[in-house]
Amino acid sequence: MEIYGVKSLNGDIRVPGDKSISHRSAIISSISGKKVIIENYLFSQDCINTIEILRNLGVKIENIDNNLMIHGVKTANMIEPRGVLDVGNSGTAIRLIAGVLASTDFMSILSGDVSINNRPMKRIIDPLRSMGASIYGRDNNKKAPLVIFGNKKLQGKRFEFSLSSAQLKSCILLAAINAEGVTEIIQPETSRDHTERMLQYFGADIEFDGKYTRLDPSKGLEARNIYVPGDISSAAFIIVATLILKNSHTLIRDVGVNPTRNHFLEILKKMGANIEIKNIRTISNEPVADIETFSSDLTSVEIEKQWIPNIIDEIPVLAVAASRANGKTIIEGAGELRNKESDRISALSTQLKIIGVDIREQKDGFEITGNSNSDIIGGTVDSMGDHRIAMSLAILSLLSKNSTTILDSDCIDTSFPGFKYILKKLMA
Ligand code: S3P
Repeated sequence: MEIYGVKSLNGDIRVPGDKSISHRSAIISSISGKKVIIENYLFSQDCINTIEILRNLGVKIENIDNNLMIHGVKTANMIEPRGVLDVGNSGTAIRLIAGVLASTDFMSILSGDVSINNRPMKRIIDPLRSMGASIYGRDNNKKAPLVIFGNKKLQGKRFEFSLSSAQLKSCILLAAINAEGVTEIIQPETSRDHTERMLQYFGADIEFDGKYTRLDPSKGLEARNIYVPGDISSAAFIIVATLILKNSHTLIRDVGVNPTRNHFLEILKKMGANIEIKNIRTISNEPVADIETFSSDLTSVEIEKQWIPNIIDEIPVLAVAASRANGKTIIEGAGELRNKESDRISALSTQLKIIGVDIREQKDGFEITGNSNSDIIGGTVDSMGDHRIAMSLAILSLLSKNSTTILDSDCIDTSFPGFKYILKKLMA
């Protein structure tokens, strides 16, 4: 992708459906035993892989007028897949689907691309085994491919995790929904609660408050149609672009503003951002709003570690905002960034530096000395195959004096198909 500096961004847009909610909508509908229509599903590569895997497990899924119609089965009626289930680049797909497969009565293999097969899986293997699942992985049960021999008699359990991860929590909940007895999960910090909200929407007996979740599987699931709101993590790129370019004003409609995902908006406001959240309403048990953003003068900010799980996917684009905010911004306690689609600490530190950012890599984060007047020099940068790194580099390059070439930018389709088209629309 080649990016040239632009003067401003203006317009009224929508961003594609939320990635986390799309995965969950397809998976939970598939095990509901009922027919569900999903509106505004994200047809990105990650979420398409999830649909294909569910089809390989015997679920009939139709595309009707850009919506999905899922003919749900019960997990017990899923069928043994004939080949390897390929999640591509998706951590959410592999970890959530592993939870479902743990409670089937057949063997399955989950695998993905080079990045996914190097990401940590012990975090789900150990707790699933403790519920009675037989699950194995490469590298001494630490990595994918994962081989799962399902067990229909999983036992519910109480887990106290030292890691706050929504993928881990959701994996356990999707196993627990078919287990015997109650499952409780405690995590040190609040992580996104889309699985809990959707299970509740489907009538499950579930309590949750961010750090504590309790699921009693005896009630089973009903089915209801789902509307997937716009992805706040995709909106974040447009919001930061609007803030750092002069004379810019954007309105993004119908964005999910779940409180376990929206803290980056508070951080930006603390930095001086002029952002208004309007028209808040609840759709399919998720809060949805319109977000209006105006160009703003930003200053550096202190980010408390407790918020890291909430802002984990927005840290790359927050780094871009910090690079234009006068003063020093420090991100600490974010070692999980090294376990994402790329090592995001290293990717940001090396690639942002190339185009002119004063950034210093730390063990579990980085330090940025921002300057609203510094030149973005352009050049050639590498996304490292990571969609959020590619888009962060693209957003900052909108300020560049010369053009910037972003290598390996096709990965943007992982989460934000149409990213280029939306930017072009806002430039016009
Ligand atoms: C996600 C959870 C987060 C996030 C990822 C999506 C989810 O990962 O980074 O992009 O959909 O549950 P972790 O659970 O590993 O923190």
